Amino acid sequence: MIKKGIILAGGMGTRMSPLTKAVNKQLLPIYDKPLIYYPLSLLMLSKIKNILIIVNKGQLNQFRKIIPNGNNLGIKITYKEQDKPRGLPDAFILGEKFIEKDNVALILGDNFFYGQNLQSMLLKCSKLKNGARILIHPVSNPELYGVAKLNNKNRIILLKEKPKKFISKFAVTGFYFFDNKVINYAKKLKPSKRNELEIIDLLKKYKNSKNLYADYVGRGGAWLDTGSIDDFYKASSFVSAIESRQGLKIACLEEIALNNKWISKKEILNSIKFYGKCEYSNYLNKLIK
Ligand code: DAU
Repeated sequence: MIKKGIILAGGMGTRMSPLTKAVNKQLLPIYDKPLIYYPLSLLMLSKIKNILIIVNKGQLNQFRKIIPNGNNLGIKITYKEQDKPRGLPDAFILGEKFIEKDNVALILGDNFFYGQNLQSMLLKCSKLKNGARILIHPVSNPELYGVAKLNNKNRIILLKEKPKKFISKFAVTGFYFFDNKVINYAKKLKPSKRNELEIIDLLKKYKNSKNLYADYVGRGGAWLDTGSIDDFYKASSFVSAIESRQGLKIACLEEIALNNKWISKKEILNSIKFYGKCEYSNYLNKLIK
């Protein structure tokens, strides 16, 4: 069982400047909550309680204001600063002490998924003992992502970061599950042409040792991108439409913690005090009535 998870929430958010000049992208709103709630909720749905959040140097206080430690969620949050964006695999180098001898999940701070059967898929992924597991999802613009080509036995035969020529419609999403070898593999990577360590190069190491597995988030599920301002709007509308139709919130962290039996009414009341009078608190109130 994977019990540790990393959220990579640094990066400069350049494509969203000036919004990201003073505030980290992962703290900007997707409808009614900060973006980081969504990837955090996915780790919690995977029953991962021990979480390292990697943030930009100088931005720790911004994050601590909204997610101080995890006590109210029954989880443990630790922070680590990244002094500059060295690439996604840097998470395992910075996170070496946190990971220790365990297996680990990584989710990018700007990724989120929604859909039926998602939790059962995540719980299956978090059972990983050896190798690595990725989630793939069909997209109309694969050239913007890491891409995987599979054969008819569902084995990954090709991986490429942002391919200019079409090779497959399956994007490699930003939620990955790894065994402990990931630390050593990450340390051996060389920076790419854009001077970053590449997650695709790391995944290739698992592919070459025939230890890389993929699960589909099919068309019944959504993987939402938050790369640009337009994507933020689309994701916000999506969340707003579903929440108002169902009267249920997507990525309400306290609700997931309560369902997981990690917290009780007492912690929900603490959270209500923490958030103050707002619509989110009203929702929490309803949960414990
Ligand atoms: O979203 C999925 C895609 O994420 C994958 O399909 C690609 O294979 C993968 O390379 C990545 O592509 P992006 O171009 O979207 O990555 P980006 O540089 O935008 O970083 C993603 C998140 O990670 C973002 O929230 C910032 C954060 N980050 C990024 C880097 C490079 C860090 O915290 N530190 C870093 O060093």
